[in-house]
Amino acid sequence: MHVCINAAAAVAVAVAASPASAAVKPLKSETARAAQLDEWTNKYAEFLTRHKTSLTAVSLRPRGLTNRSNYCYINSILQALLGCAPFYNLLRSIPKQAAQQSEVKTPTVNAMMSFMSNFSALPSGSRQRLSNNSKAGQIKGKDEFAGMDLHCDLAFEPTEIYKLWNDSREEHVEGRQEDAEEFLGYVLNKLNDEMLEVVKLIAKPVAQQNGEQEQDQEDGGDVWQMICNNRNKGSVTRQTDFGRTPISDIFRGELRSRLQREGEHSTDVIQPFFTLQLNIEKAASVKEALEILVGRDQLEGVTGSKTKQEVVAWQQMTLEKLPIVLILHLKYFDYRSDGCTKILKKVEFPVELKIDAKILGSKKTSQKQRAYRLFAIVYHDGKEASKGHYITDVFHTGYNSWLRYDDSSVKPIAEKLVLQPHTPRVPYLLYYRRCDTLPPMQTSNGGGPGQPSMGATHANANANANAASATSSNTTAVNSANNK
Ligand SMILES: *[C@@H]1O[C@H](CO)[C@@H](O)[C@H](O)[C@H]1NC(C)=O
Ligand SMILES: *[C@@H]1O[C@H](CO)[C@@H](O)[C@H](O)[C@H]1NC(C)=O
Ligand SMILES: *[C@@H]1O[C@H](CO)[C@@H](O)[C@H](O)[C@H]1NC(C)=O
Ligand SMILES: *[C@@H]1O[C@H](CO)[C@@H](O)[C@H](O)[C@H]1NC(C)=O
Ligand SMILES: *[C@@H]1O[C@H](CO)[C@@H](O)[C@H](O)[C@H]1NC(C)=O
Repeated sequence: MHVCINAAAAVAVAVAASPASAAVKPLKSETARAAQLDEWTNKYAEFLTRHKTSLTAVSLRPRGLTNRSNYCYINSILQALLGCAPFYNLLRSIPKQAAQQSEVKTPTVNAMMSFMSNFSALPSGSRQRLSNNSKAGQIKGKDEFAGMDLHCDLAFEPTEIYKLWNDSREEHVEGRQEDAEEFLGYVLNKLNDEMLEVVKLIAKPVAQQNGEQEQDQEDGGDVWQMICNNRNKGSVTRQTDFGRTPISDIFRGELRSRLQREGEHSTDVIQPFFTLQLNIEKAASVKEALEILVGRDQLEGVTGSKTKQEVVAWQQMTLEKLPIVLILHLKYFDYRSDGCTKILKKVEFPVELKIDAKILGSKKTSQKQRAYRLFAIVYHDGKEASKGHYITDVFHTGYNSWLRYDDSSVKPIAEKLVLQPHTPRVPYLLYYRRCDTLPPMQTSNGGGPGQPSMGATHANANANANAASATSSNTTAVNSANNK
């Protein structure tokens, strides 16, 4: 269900990044505060501060989510996040009791930890069976998965998550929509903000390594700015320190927005994002949408910094930092003053996404660091923006197959059907994993000639799955140890 209420919020910026809403403010007496922290709070803060993203593959028993109150927009996001191994690994490894007993409360983190604990590892026998069948089935074509035996757990209602969302809607009744992307942004920002609060408790004071940092702690601003000269002589880059958390380590990318006034130095601003918004009105593919994103736009009404006269000016975006998990938000909903309509068009998206060097500001990234692989898609179905349904396809490493999650129902689905939704079903959110962060490839045995897509793409999936169940049991061990 998708209901458009708030037009104004969405019109404003071409690339409305979802930045972490709270920025780090250097604390004055960290050491004093750290000394007063109780054991659990301190343990929690230490864990979040030291956490390194775990890239190990995960293979879980699929489990549908019931939709008693039209919460398909939430369910679709939860299934996609479950398919995101670094995120799952993080939430399963947080020491549970520390998170519960911490004096700084983190309700969203705790609810998400509890949700993730509702899924069990897939036993290796059942994995093998589907993957044998699906190989045989691919030759047969359309009904390839008919009668296939997926080992699912009983669908359930993620009540705790719904409840948190309900409470947040009461706080700000207006402007809320039943929109999957909005829910995703809410969850990631909330998790990040809550973790940041905890991390701040033991944060070291911001080092004053050089005189180029300007801090304004006094005027109540939560934001401090770093102004420095970059290599392009004379250009000024402004960057706000949003602080790091295990969530930002996984999802946060950065955009560089450059403003160039004729006859002046350029001014760059670095903007963080959790989901990268792409305009699709003029794009037939994700590749084109990315090119449009970084196109030079002439600006009107910009005045010179000294003359106060209107000058010729351009703005240009480039990607500055590529996250481990890149979430693309295809802007299928067109917000106008008279309401919201859905753009009914096809936009092609690849399994293997190569970010072209010209889209990146910095030349330092290698080809491998610019390659992404698709692992989840959230579709919006229905002709109208004001109603409709969300479903999610996730690549399951254990079954070496795509699975379609439609609330309580879970079914295997062929990759070509994943990639070719029929309008009005449109790919609304695309989840990509940076290839250099995937577990190492093992000898590929999948994908003979004639199945280039499935085989080449996910050849290493089976190998990863085995590592996965070992990790989940190890993770479980950590959790129960912390629980005593
Ligand atoms: C989900 O996990 C929580 C916490 O571990 C537990 O209390 C709850 O009963 C579980 N629910 C289901 C449906 O498995
Ligand atoms: C599935 O494949 C494995 C090896 O890839 C083989 O050992 C097993 O017997 C096969 N199972 C079935 C049901 O075909
Ligand atoms: C959330 O609110 C809706 C309507 O206000 C209600 O139907 C639903 O039961 C609530 N869900 C939870 C989990 O509190
Ligand atoms: C989800 O809810 C809709 C009504 O909003 C219903 O038509 C549909 O059958 C439900 N889907 C499943 C799989 O339960
Ligand atoms: C579990 O983790 C420990 C280290 O914490 C490691 O030595 C062990 O090999 C792991 N077990 C498995 C099955 O991977």
